[in-house]
Amino acid sequence: MVKFDLGGAVPFLDPAGLDYASAAAAHRALTEGLGQGADSTGWLHLPKRMTGTGLKSILSAANRIRNQSEVLVVIGIGGSCLGARAAIEAIGRKPDCPEVLFAGHTLSPRALSALVEQLGDRDFSVNIISKSGTTLEPALSFRVFKSLLEKKYGRSAARRRIYATTGADNNVLKKAADDNGYETFVIPDDVGGRYSVLSAVGLLPMAAAGIDVSAVAEHAAASFRELNLRSPENPAWQYAAARQQLYRSGRTIEILACSEPSFRYMADWWKQLFGESEGKKGVGIFPASVEYPADLHAMGQYIQEGPRTLIETVVRFADPGCRFSIPFEIGDGDGLNYLSGRDFGSVSAVVTEAARAAHTLGGVPNLAITASDMAEQGFAELVTFFELSCAISGYMLHVNPFDQPGVEAYKENMYRLLRRESDND
Ligand code: PA5
Repeated sequence: MVKFDLGGAVPFLDPAGLDYASAAAAHRALTEGLGQGADSTGWLHLPKRMTGTGLKSILSAANRIRNQSEVLVVIGIGGSCLGARAAIEAIGRKPDCPEVLFAGHTLSPRALSALVEQLGDRDFSVNIISKSGTTLEPALSFRVFKSLLEKKYGRSAARRRIYATTGADNNVLKKAADDNGYETFVIPDDVGGRYSVLSAVGLLPMAAAGIDVSAVAEHAAASFRELNLRSPENPAWQYAAARQQLYRSGRTIEILACSEPSFRYMADWWKQLFGESEGKKGVGIFPASVEYPADLHAMGQYIQEGPRTLIETVVRFADPGCRFSIPFEIGDGDGLNYLSGRDFGSVSAVVTEAARAAHTLGGVPNLAITASDMAEQGFAELVTFFELSCAISGYMLHVNPFDQPGVEAYKENMYRLLRRESDND
């Protein structure tokens, strides 16, 4: 389970006024299926559900992908790709495993051409991921990579290189998968896109990249068990209650800060989770992210002295998993020999602490989350902690954290405009 530190926010909130009664009620509503969107809370049970046959079929498909291919092209958007990308970037692909390329989240011809070029003539497989099966962006990319597969291997061999992860209903992707015999993984009805990383949506690409998905599932199950604690000691209650009190006092933007560049996609996953879950009915904290120290030289000025609407949440890792020593230099021209022999990571930790202290003094409440490591355990701890905190926080805001009605607005316009243009051609 992650450790949560409220200390840097204490000057800005009333610890005795943290609304643990609402956090408790939200937690109860969630686990007893009494809250809004109760039919979308299956993610709470995913780690347990996945162990056994679920994991076995993922592992055997991943094995086949590894034997077949030098590259796996994962096609999806939003909740259908961010989790896998977050894990693969943060934990890292294991040696001798296929490179994982991501498509379907962009319609940029330039990006698509670059991706096809990057793929080159290497052997590849495709994992198309779409719960609805109808999302335009991944569907168009799927056309591209399916046709490349067919050109390279022929239609029947191409089918054995396509893995479809989709909803159980007979959507167009499921129908195509059934008709063509693609190996198919079903996204349970009660799990929405942004809460699906611990299903085949995230686990299949992760397993193909050599990540130990059994360990991810075990650690996630353990973390969910620990986070079931019904007390103000629960870090998910603390995070949700602190965010809500700060939000009510005018803190409308939360920046997630980390000093690991490979955390970038984890921050994107977090942004989608909180943004899409909370931002509705005119309420919600806007989620943003920064990377330290890079952004201290880009966003540091705003954080220190801009409008006091920010909450800063720092993510740290107890075991950084890697050391890199600062070299000694003869002559000490830059005067930095007092740091020689020290690990870059320890200097980075000091820089982050210095920034936290400065930002707190500058009027930015600071929350800190510490996960075990940047490996399977830490990833599982962060995913479970953020998912649970987000659902509790959403219920405390009186919104349904599991729907996204606002996303439909652009889709309706897009289809209307695209059809109108095609009719005019
Ligand atoms: O969280 C969500 O539900 C969304 O981000 C979806 O994952 C995203 O819109 C993709 O939808 P689909 O998987 O149906 O293609």
